Amino acid sequence: MQENAIEIDDLAKTYAATRKSAAKEALKGVSLDIPKGSIFGLLGPNGAGKSTLINILAGLVVKSAGQVRIWGFDQDVNPRQSRAAIGVMPQELNLDPFFTPRGALEVQAGLYGLPRRQRRTDEILRMIGLEDKAEAYARNLSGGMRRRLLLGKALVHAPQVLVLDEPTAGVDIELRGMLWDNVRALNAQGMTIILTTHYLEEAEAMCAEIAIIDEGSLIARDRTANLVARMDAKTLLVRAEAPIATVPALPTGVEAELRADGRLAIGYRRGVTPTEAILDALRKAGITISDLSTEEPDLEDVFVSLTSKRTVPAA
Ligand SMILES: Nc1ncnc2c1ncn2[C@@H]1O[C@H](COP(=O)(O)OP(=O)(O)O)[C@@H](O)[C@H]1O
Ligand SMILES: [Mg+2]
Repeated sequence: MQENAIEIDDLAKTYAATRKSAAKEALKGVSLDIPKGSIFGLLGPNGAGKSTLINILAGLVVKSAGQVRIWGFDQDVNPRQSRAAIGVMPQELNLDPFFTPRGALEVQAGLYGLPRRQRRTDEILRMIGLEDKAEAYARNLSGGMRRRLLLGKALVHAPQVLVLDEPTAGVDIELRGMLWDNVRALNAQGMTIILTTHYLEEAEAMCAEIAIIDEGSLIARDRTANLVARMDAKTLLVRAEAPIATVPALPTGVEAELRADGRLAIGYRRGVTPTEAILDALRKAGITISDLSTEEPDLEDVFVSLTSKRTVPAA
């Protein structure tokens, strides 16, 4: 049995020029394998090409070049099987306002050719918490309910791979919690999950492995822990017995600043400067440490260092 849920080789997409805009090369030859059973994070700044990639997997966007295999089925050779293996919760709320949740799930099941006895409409309504809204028109559902319905639609044909495109962008904490509970439960049952998110703490918490794309190219792919460990930047926070008036002399390459709370924040690279050398310099400057703590890098730092962009523009 092969191990990968998804195999992508040299995938490229150029959106054709229109009267209003020039042609856009959204994916520039991306190769990526996603193992079965994982919760895999696909990260990248706005416009990086994440949704384009996901929509190609879903069969919603036609690729320009490259190969995609889903659950071992080549998209071009076995389009029906490859599509049956994947369910996508899209980023856009693209629901027909005149369908009820039950109707929308039934229509989706029909699209996949599921016979009635294989349909799990009630089970899915229960899972997404829309049992009591089953007969309400979609236009009367809140934004959060519509998102849950999109998740339900992605699950109708019991796909082996579930893809969520920014499922929690702009949703409240309660819904976010519900979505992640569902995702974890589905993954525990063996479903492979791929998600894009702008919330890097969320990616760090949910995803064992992560790929980062930027401007249509893959720039990193590793276990989340390795990505974070790659950053050897560290910050020491020092509080002294006597208030620190000026920044003392420190080894070259080390940067320090006094914070408003009186602590001295010292940034350095563990691979370059041993912590001991910094403590020595502090002692030489006559500083007696009363409290010491450290700040470790997180995924946001990795992201910024690789893409020189923030996921969310600074306020
Ligand atoms: N249908 C489309 N037609 C033309 N350009 C598009 C279309 N969809 C996306 N793009 C462009 O392709 C690039 C990648 O977009 P997208 O895949 O949505 O990125 P992401 O999901 O990472 O924010 C962007 O520059 C975007 O403007
Ligand atoms: Mg997107």
